[in-house]
Amino acid sequence: MSTQTNEAPYKSVRFSETTITELMVPAYSNFGGKIHGGVLLSLMDKVAYVCAAKHAGNYCVTASIDAVDFLQPVEVGDLVSLMASVNYVGNTSLVVGIRVISENIKTNVINHTNTSYFTMVAKDEQNNLVQIPGLILENREDVRRFYEARRRKQLKQNYKHDAEAIHMPEDHESCKSLLTGERCIIS
Ligand SMILES: CC(C)(COP(=O)(O)OP(=O)(O)OC[C@H]1O[C@@H](n2cnc3c(N)ncnc32)[C@H](O)[C@@H]1OP(=O)(O)O)[C@@H](O)C(=O)NCCC(=O)NCCS
Repeated sequence: MSTQTNEAPYKSVRFSETTITELMVPAYSNFGGKIHGGVLLSLMDKVAYVCAAKHAGNYCVTASIDAVDFLQPVEVGDLVSLMASVNYVGNTSLVVGIRVISENIKTNVINHTNTSYFTMVAKDEQNNLVQIPGLILENREDVRRFYEARRRKQLKQNYKHDAEAIHMPEDHESCKSLLTGERCIIS
């Protein structure tokens, strides 16, 4: 006989690991002939959703994205692979870590394009937040990712607190002197 509890069942990282591979067609390129950053962002959002929704067993929305730095340009004709896994779970939110690589089909040279962390929040059909299953950490790498994601969450809370405290000085002269050396003119 199964026992009913209010706690959502735990799932392993492996259960929801997701990889999407897509060919970079000419329609994805910008005026410089490279792939638009927005195309990669859209693919990242897609793979984050698949991974998060599979773990949550529910519809998920993107709450925030941590650091998108494009390390290398992506060329038309490259194969881009996005590997996503759940790094951390809170109560109704989880963090999906995504590693993006691009591969030149002719030379097989692989470039690491970027690594980002998407915080996704689970919702039910009535748009209410729902609890997410806990995470089973099966190896040292799973534990490292969970620990690091929790640390980033704490650092982000500190940063948010500091950023909210930024205010321009009331006094025009003080403001002017603080901007000395910047490439601006106060006319
Ligand atoms: C994200 C959203 C669901 C949060 O709703 P909320 O009523 O503020 O919920 P709460 O403050 O109770 O937070 C719920 C969870 O989300 C997390 N969260 C909320 N905002 C967050 C943010 N900016 N960054 C990271 N986590 C966030 C909270 O930490 C909490 O996690 P936990 O339950 O695991 O502890 C809500 O703001 C929303 O629906 N935003 C729009 C999402 C969307 O449309 N995305 C697509 C953009 S195009």
